[in-house]
Amino acid sequence: MKYSEGFRVIIFLICTGYNVKQMATARELNALILLADDGGFEMGVYLNKISQTPNLDALAKKDRSAILTGMPSHQNGMYGLHQAENHFNSFSNINSLPKILQDNGIRTGIIGKKHVGPEEAYPFDYAQTEENNSILQVGRNITHIRLLAREFLNNGTEPFFLYIAFHDPHRCGHTNPEFGEFCQLFGNGDEGMGLIPDWKPIIYQPDELQLPYFIPDTWEARKDNSGHLDDTLIIYTSDNGIPFPNGRTNFYDSGIAEPMLISSPLHKEREHQVTNSLASLLDIVPTMLDWYNITYEEDRLEDNSVERKKIFTGRSLLPLLIAEPADKSKEAIFASHNLHEITMYYPMRMIRTQRYKLIHNINFYSPFPIDQDFYLSPTFQDILNRTKSHENLNWFKTLKQYYDRPEWELYDIKHDPEELNNIVKKNSSMEIFQELKKRLNEWQKATNDPWLCAPHAVFENKGAYKDSPQCLDLDNMW
Ligand SMILES: *[C@@H]1O[C@H](CO)[C@@H](O)[C@H](O)[C@H]1NC(C)=O
Ligand SMILES: *[C@@H]1O[C@H](CO)[C@@H](O)[C@H](O)[C@H]1NC(C)=O
Ligand SMILES: *[C@@H]1O[C@H](CO)[C@@H](O)[C@H](O)[C@H]1NC(C)=O
Ligand SMILES: *[C@@H]1O[C@H](CO)[C@@H](O)[C@H](O)[C@H]1NC(C)=O
Ligand SMILES: *[C@@H]1O[C@H](CO)[C@@H](O)[C@H](O)[C@H]1NC(C)=O
Ligand SMILES: *[C@@H]1O[C@H](CO)[C@@H](O)[C@H](O)[C@H]1NC(C)=O
Repeated sequence: MKYSEGFRVIIFLICTGYNVKQMATARELNALILLADDGGFEMGVYLNKISQTPNLDALAKKDRSAILTGMPSHQNGMYGLHQAENHFNSFSNINSLPKILQDNGIRTGIIGKKHVGPEEAYPFDYAQTEENNSILQVGRNITHIRLLAREFLNNGTEPFFLYIAFHDPHRCGHTNPEFGEFCQLFGNGDEGMGLIPDWKPIIYQPDELQLPYFIPDTWEARKDNSGHLDDTLIIYTSDNGIPFPNGRTNFYDSGIAEPMLISSPLHKEREHQVTNSLASLLDIVPTMLDWYNITYEEDRLEDNSVERKKIFTGRSLLPLLIAEPADKSKEAIFASHNLHEITMYYPMRMIRTQRYKLIHNINFYSPFPIDQDFYLSPTFQDILNRTKSHENLNWFKTLKQYYDRPEWELYDIKHDPEELNNIVKKNSSMEIFQELKKRLNEWQKATNDPWLCAPHAVFENKGAYKDSPQCLDLDNMW
């Protein structure tokens, strides 16, 4: 799971439930979150005819920091990646989901990619993560993951919360090129690759795919239900879009739209249905608190400089399992990004409604940054090579367009789903631009965004400005 990418839009939400008796009290309920790493929509349930994802399809039929805190990165303090030299951590006094659940007697477990810190802010009763395991074993070896999940499930009778964060289908070429670009060779039974007994590799031919380069479907989530199918809320989702140009680290829909499948034993009203409501990963914590019937309003998130009042700006998704909202026209989801790798300073804020999207590129003078593993990918290398030799890219953008972004991008998604036609400067867009800008600003205020006034003003909120925080003009617009 990732830090600032960690909360992204989920445009499609499949609500499913199955027919089970109403549980006596909420306290007997469990929850399981299955998180893919850079996962896309390549699965049968999303009408992909090529990739075979029987377990995810069955889940749909039958049934990272922002994810675990309910706060965008600029509010939880983890502005970029956690691992290695990136070294980002969230505020240590943050009340994360595992902490709140622990306080309420729920047994918590994490298997796979943790990618958040510091340790004390994210306490799990059971942890088998990349911090002291091979990420290949706890994040990609589904047999190993199944055994660990069983160990956790068999070791207690309290209600549980289990968070399984796969490393699939993340790229692999940058760290373990011997297993292929997406680790698709790892555990396939060939010499030196080892074996993952629960995995039956399916090889797709490039020309049968709906994308030029494809993500092998290795994250087959198991219905490892251990008799808990009747009392467990299951959510399957991903952290961000696929690691391709315009995907991961971007706020275009290709970077933020993610699959989300929810299966609840208590909600059969909308079995097999699809919602068109907008959801965000910031909704996971409110959903979990709702599921466990935990009231949580306390503000224990004070650091020296900022007083944090309203903690969660997301909402519980459980009402969506009962009925589709009558009016979705005012719905909005928000996103925040500051850095990916430590060198990639490119703060962006975004609001997405049913019809429009507004992106604020705060550091718009800088070329859009490229991360280490994506840089080495065949797709990006090919784009670079073709650009240098003035060949046709066969792509819907040029590299220059991809790097150079204006301060504001406004798209009418309904008529321009590819987000190619920036209408921000059009006279006819004035009203919607102002409205979205205002709503984005209000969300930034509600989440104590340190970038609230950037890049044309400085935020002053201490000393003489303690009681009346202000954006003071920099006079840098020329
Ligand atoms: C939820 O908690 C409240 C008290 O906090 C309680 O009154 C209510 O009965 C609980 N609901 C369920 C379904 O357990
Ligand atoms: C990893 O650390 C956790 C404690 O955080 C411990 O329970 C677990 O056994 C450790 N796993 C390994 C493989 O050392
Ligand atoms: C099982 O639970 C006990 C007590 O709750 C704990 O001490 C032990 O470490 C747990 N074992 C595993 C494998 O999690
Ligand atoms: C996957 O995990 C199982 C169970 O721990 C193990 O037997 C197998 O060797 C592992 N496969 C690989 C490729 O490491
Ligand atoms: C890009 O060009 C370099 C240098 O000519 C070459 O080594 C590499 O294979 C090319 N990569 C792709 C994906 O075409
Ligand atoms: C757009 O608005 C500006 C300022 O109100 C006005 O000067 C200009 O003529 C308008 N352009 C069009 C094409 O309506």
